[in-house]
Amino acid sequence: MTGRVREQAAKRSREEWRQILEGVTGRVIHEAPLRDYTSFHIGGPAEVLVEPADLEDLCRLTAQAHRARAPLFVVGGTNLLVRDGGIRGLVVSLARFKHIKEEPDHVLYAEGGVGMPTLIGYAIRRSLAGLEWGAGIPGTVAGCVVMNAGTRLGEMRQAVKAVRLVDPRGHVKDIAAVDIPFSYRRAHVPRGIVAGVWLQLRPGDHDVIERTVKDYLQYRKETQPLTMPSAGCVFKNPPKDSAGRLIEAAGLKGARVGDAQVSEKHANFMVNLGQAQAAEVLTLIRKVRHAVKKASGVTLELELKVVGQA
Ligand code: EPU
Repeated sequence: MTGRVREQAAKRSREEWRQILEGVTGRVIHEAPLRDYTSFHIGGPAEVLVEPADLEDLCRLTAQAHRARAPLFVVGGTNLLVRDGGIRGLVVSLARFKHIKEEPDHVLYAEGGVGMPTLIGYAIRRSLAGLEWGAGIPGTVAGCVVMNAGTRLGEMRQAVKAVRLVDPRGHVKDIAAVDIPFSYRRAHVPRGIVAGVWLQLRPGDHDVIERTVKDYLQYRKETQPLTMPSAGCVFKNPPKDSAGRLIEAAGLKGARVGDAQVSEKHANFMVNLGQAQAAEVLTLIRKVRHAVKKASGVTLELELKVVGQA
């Protein structure tokens, strides 16, 4: 996800929003509960949530929001904790950006809202290798680029050829991957919204690709709480170690604050047992960091992105 939330003192009136959203054809929801848009099922409302209909609509929306100085935030929804007060301003969901197109030389173009599982399924059907490392990652392709999502087997930067960005003024810019600095769980994409991604894959053996993906998915199902609401891994792995191992060693597997719990299955996941509040997750995060620091001297860094107002 890209864009920055500039906190605003006051909300805008419906009339102001009507002007900002003039001509936008996608879906508009005022006071949209963001818990319905995040894998954690946590978070207060978005002042206005928009699902642009297509690229042109997204450009119009971005340009008009920019002219009106309305803050804009893109919600991918998986590696995200939205605070209980929600997000002031405009929240954009790429829920309608779902197309995948095959181009010459084993390149796929995926719109930003395509889910990684869908993209990997497509690559398997076309016998294209290069995304197997991402099996089980639930995020959107745009979210995965911006986070440089990865696992022990690989990461997004290995597959990205170029990124289609809508800049804050609403202009489309295509940026080659060589011009994007990637680091651990972060791609330094210029400000804007990732509307689509070109992925350079390579021809492979259908059955081998499928088996690799299935085996990896099985490993993740066995070791991660994939059936419970969560935001994936909460902390980055410290160099040459595992945050999950350190949290377990500090005795915090299963620790709870309200309905927020350190997963019993994988200690670097926090799960929502039902009605967890963002404030409870944040308290649990502080407890975990404190305990790990005390037990092993390591300061854990957040992988999870925390946004919105308390
Ligand atoms: N471990 C424990 N206790 C735990 C969890 C793990 O002792 O509660 C130990 C395991 O036994 C193993 C080691 O830690 O020896 C590594 O565990 P695992 O293979 O599960 O990998 P990880 O380093 O914890 C990373 C990624 C995951 C990704 C997995 C699988 C990060 C921060 N984590 O986890 O990514 O799914 O590898 O490839 O990079 C995510 O980014 O959201 C995420 C979950």
